[in-house]
Amino acid sequence: MTGLPAVASAEDFFDSTIDLSDFENEGAADDEKYWRHIAHKYYIVSKDYINLENGYYGIQPKPVLQAFQKNILLANREGARFARKIFPETNNTVKKELAAFLQVTPEEIIITRNATEALNIAIQGYPFNEGDEVLIYQLDYFSMIEAFRLLEKRGKIKVNAFEMPLLPANEDEIVELYRKMITDKTKVILLTHVSNINGLIVPVQKIAAMAKQKGIDTITDSAHALGQVPFSLPALGSDFVGMNLHKWIGNPIGAGVLYVKKERIKEMNVLFGDVDTNQDNIGKLAHFGTTPFAVIMTIPDSLAFHKLMGVEKISKRLHYLKSIWINELKQSDKVEIVTPIELSCAIASFRVKDKKTSDVADVLFKEHNILTVGRVLGKDGCIRVTPAVYTSADDVRKLVSAVRAV
Ligand SMILES: Cc1ncc(COP(=O)(O)O)c(C=O)c1O
Repeated sequence: MTGLPAVASAEDFFDSTIDLSDFENEGAADDEKYWRHIAHKYYIVSKDYINLENGYYGIQPKPVLQAFQKNILLANREGARFARKIFPETNNTVKKELAAFLQVTPEEIIITRNATEALNIAIQGYPFNEGDEVLIYQLDYFSMIEAFRLLEKRGKIKVNAFEMPLLPANEDEIVELYRKMITDKTKVILLTHVSNINGLIVPVQKIAAMAKQKGIDTITDSAHALGQVPFSLPALGSDFVGMNLHKWIGNPIGAGVLYVKKERIKEMNVLFGDVDTNQDNIGKLAHFGTTPFAVIMTIPDSLAFHKLMGVEKISKRLHYLKSIWINELKQSDKVEIVTPIELSCAIASFRVKDKKTSDVADVLFKEHNILTVGRVLGKDGCIRVTPAVYTSADDVRKLVSAVRAV
């Protein structure tokens, strides 16, 4: 074995008991005492550095981590008997619970490994006709852009990309920008619900409604939206939505979801080989082979913990933490904030004038022990900052001091 400590650490024996009274408190966004209590009691996080790069994946709360450990043990101990006799039924139950959480039916979702897989199934399976056009913009996630570009390269579609101003004033301005870019041939609009680059939240519901009136579909990437910002999946009005559970739901890594509205399943082509292509059974899209049992079995636990916290409370806290650093740093004429504060939640980004983005991120980490990440955005890039529910207001203030020192 390499790299594994031989002796168990105290954290291997953590207490993961849930005290329901912890979640009855209103948990006001600026109640540091409350959030410190939640952080200490329910999260094991490294104390060596300040993690403001929670946009990559979410830390599992202790009760979820413990359920995951039990599930790994069970799957490993029970072997094929478990996989053949128990898991299929468990999987159905998990799917039902996940569908209920998403307010849709189990017949409209498949569990994937991640959002990229979910959205590739939607993008590559969409029934395009020759000459169809797809609309994307500069803050869409690169993997989905790649998927559409691949179809373009194969001669199936044409991709039209547009640049949106980085600080739109309000949702209606965004809807108008999309409306103006539509052509007679636009068939699909890719909507990145929450941008991974600067955290911009696009008004999916309004754009989808506008598009639908013109007979245009939306394929929505809600990878960063699920669990971070409140929304109702059926109310979005987008017939194809890909998400994951390992960013803001706190599930172990390796779980995503694709939602396809019931009436649209029949026309979808399959990405993974399956001959029942005309069926309206969503199972035709999920011909994956062996799946990560323990990850899937832990979904009910991560959903249950997330529900205890509640997305409203979580999003208000994250918005508050983001506002602390933006409101401080926007006063500096050396710092450019590239995220509209009211059209974002946890994720937001900035640049330091006349400094290379990668250099700033390096200094923040090497000299101040604060992890952020540089992202590609125009010629200057930007630095993305993402707090989580276990982040303290003090941690965020340390970022402010560190950027001032840079
Ligand atoms: C907007 C967006 N979409 C999709 C993804 C991909 O998610 P996954 O890793 O679950 O495939 C990410 C990951 O960072 C993302 O930020």
